[in-house]
Amino acid sequence: MASPKSAAFSVSAVRYLPRDPVIAVKILFASSEAAPLIKTGGLADVAGSLPRTLHDQGDDVRLVLPAYPGVLKQVSSATLVAELQVPAHGGPVRVLTAQAKVLPLPLYLIEAPGLFDRPGNPYVGEDGNDYPDNAQRFAAFCHAIVALALGQADSWRPDVVHCNDWQTGLVPALLSKEWQRPATVFTIHNLAYQGQFDRATFDALQLPADLWSPDGLEFYGQFAFIKGGVAFADMINTVSPTYAAEICRPELGYGLDGLLRYRSDRLVGILNGIDNQVWDPAGDSHLPAHYDGTDLTGKTKCKAALQTRLGLPNAPNSVLFGHIGRLVPQKGVDLIIDILPTLMAQPGTQLVVLGSGDANLEAALRTATREYPDRVAAHIGYDEGLAHLMEAGSDVFLMPSRFEPCGLNQMYSLRYGTVPVVHKTGGLADTVVDASSRALLDGSATGFVFDHPDSDGLWWAVDRALELRRRPSVWWEKLVRSCMRQDNGWHVSAERYRELYRFALDNPAAAPIPEIHKKP
Ligand code: ADP
Ligand code: GLC
Repeated sequence: MASPKSAAFSVSAVRYLPRDPVIAVKILFASSEAAPLIKTGGLADVAGSLPRTLHDQGDDVRLVLPAYPGVLKQVSSATLVAELQVPAHGGPVRVLTAQAKVLPLPLYLIEAPGLFDRPGNPYVGEDGNDYPDNAQRFAAFCHAIVALALGQADSWRPDVVHCNDWQTGLVPALLSKEWQRPATVFTIHNLAYQGQFDRATFDALQLPADLWSPDGLEFYGQFAFIKGGVAFADMINTVSPTYAAEICRPELGYGLDGLLRYRSDRLVGILNGIDNQVWDPAGDSHLPAHYDGTDLTGKTKCKAALQTRLGLPNAPNSVLFGHIGRLVPQKGVDLIIDILPTLMAQPGTQLVVLGSGDANLEAALRTATREYPDRVAAHIGYDEGLAHLMEAGSDVFLMPSRFEPCGLNQMYSLRYGTVPVVHKTGGLADTVVDASSRALLDGSATGFVFDHPDSDGLWWAVDRALELRRRPSVWWEKLVRSCMRQDNGWHVSAERYRELYRFALDNPAAAPIPEIHKKP
């Protein structure tokens, strides 16, 4: 077995030829959500579109999800293939195969009475708090994935298991104990969410006792699901090159930067792609009118429809700012609220916000709508159709995230000709080119990028956007068209994932790793 340090990996440099071109790599893609079946955020967008792209391009890929009621409603011919007994779960865990018209690739659904048969948000109960048994729920999910990975639940046996985020983090740890196992890839979509529980929970889950160690699942006296992926996966990746570098530093490493630095030869950043069919201004079924880079008339109609829908006066010449996102500190919506008086002091500006989350931020947005009833509108809640209309109808999209592993909305904005204003972090830095005079002239500019995630930083960028709007309209139109020329579809990144799978197969990690990631 290769030592963990022997595997220098550079995604851009490595071009693998399949060892046997006839036999394709079989991939089991594991996620706790996948659009359009079940979605709370960008993980679902990726888990819906990446495996689907691989499947459409001929790869043998299957997606495994928990069998939430909302998912079961959308599938046909669900068939029981295995009934498993997993540690620490009283009842049986059932593995079903299924097909979904809205997500056409082979699906496995994990049904566990009492665990996943709850409507609504997959992680949070009606009281707005995380379910108290999330550790039990996702441990059972992980055990079922392991059974599939080892060919114990179905005759199809994957070569690679691709795990995503903490909910699947135990899988690489459990598989590391097997002599004959598939390769494991672990994708970090957001290191801030770690699946942390206490020691008693670790004990209650009846996990192998030796996994309670700083080299294993222990995390400063707590138990963290995500460490199973970060410490044990053959390859780790995150969803943009810049974020891959950022998480190796203490500021954004959330206590895992030491371990990530140690494993840096197995850590890469692969930029997310977007689903160019679902997010397409020329054919989007959520829009009242369609448009493309050659004719933007439809965009003007979408703006009017958005204003009407949110109760703002139709003002074709306003500069309409939009923001969509979970209302959490990460996304920096408080910075938008901070600059609101200055923004509203500019004639002809409007703001629309779609999101839900933190009660204080929700209240602050409601207050803003009362203060500026003709200029500011907020829809508190989750609304997929409105998200599409906002991408199309806004002029400028605000994304002042304090950190952003990748971010999808700025890429949707580019495609819809809605100029993004972004903080230079993570995937935002990797996807938006600042509109410096030079970049505007040479046509490479695609938005406004600011360095400091505070209200001054955001205002500096917003002010530059307003200044460009005041210039002859050819300048703004040139910028909009250069946004719309960007192609962030999956074709490039899907190929990089294929290289990653191949590399993980050829370079199994030796586990466990030394204790060097302990706090200095
Ligand atoms: P994150 O995954 O951190 O929330 P991303 O930018 O990667 O951020 O993806 C967020 C996804 O969730 C996008 O598809 C966005 O449109 C969608 N989204 C977020 N909040 C809402 C909402 N309130 N209503 C509809 N869609 C939303
Ligand atoms: C996470 C990140 C977001 C990323 C998404 C999909 O939720 O916060 O930046 O785009 O996952 O990878």
